[in-house]
Amino acid sequence: MQQDLSSTNPIGIFDSGVGGLTVANAICQLLPHENTIYFGDTIHLPYGDKSSEAVKNYAIRITEFLLEKKCKMVVVACNTASAAAFELLKKQFGNKILLVDVIDPMVNYVQEHFAKNKIGIIATKGTIASKVYESKLANVGVDDVQSLATPLLVHLIEEGFSQHTGSQLLVQEYLRSKELRKIDVLVLACTHYPILKNTIEEFYHHEVKVLDSTEITALAVKEKLQSQNLLNPSGNGKHEFYVSDFTKAFEDIAQLFYGKQIHLERMNIWKE
Ligand code: DGL
Repeated sequence: MQQDLSSTNPIGIFDSGVGGLTVANAICQLLPHENTIYFGDTIHLPYGDKSSEAVKNYAIRITEFLLEKKCKMVVVACNTASAAAFELLKKQFGNKILLVDVIDPMVNYVQEHFAKNKIGIIATKGTIASKVYESKLANVGVDDVQSLATPLLVHLIEEGFSQHTGSQLLVQEYLRSKELRKIDVLVLACTHYPILKNTIEEFYHHEVKVLDSTEITALAVKEKLQSQNLLNPSGNGKHEFYVSDFTKAFEDIAQLFYGKQIHLERMNIWKE
């Protein structure tokens, strides 16, 4: 399997929008020699409100696109797509390409460090409805888990409103919900939410441990590449960014993350 993959081939990373950039950024920090190709499916955003069938179709087409771009690995930098489509992607592409999602690395991390704690999960409607965190955590013996869908946060972040006082009020409203009472740990189970991590930590006066999947996923990427001898040993890392529909927020936030001007290419892989 995966015989013709080469270490210099890029890592493909995708999400519905800017959220996956939080993961892409962590991968580039940890693995500066790696080339990356990012795909933000802004035309179909938000994934969290779509049916699981629709999200599966998007995930398959994007993975095909990243394969055409000769990626050695695809990182599903989206919880909603990981919940709906990761098993399918493994079946369909697992013999051609390495695959990493954002859920399994988080489940392993929680099991390792917080197995005896009360865990809260916030995510999109799609991720919460799938109950994927509850079931994967229960499989590894972590049972005290409460979850809450917080779908409006994605819209605020995509609109560039994350620092607005309105966003802070909405975060407070969500975090006061009965589902999240008395938790010790809060998992940000949507890759958009790290952008609100400071606001969330401040709400809890830093007394609740807030986990996001950025570094945790980047480490899983490193381990998987290492285990297959596919880490890129040298080079400065070239980064390409594609979106299925251009949004100003995407460009602004992408530039903020990378600290430099980036070239953003519109690529509608669903046309014709
Ligand atoms: N960032 C995504 C996630 O981790 C999806 C947000 C959305 O498109 O609804 O779930």
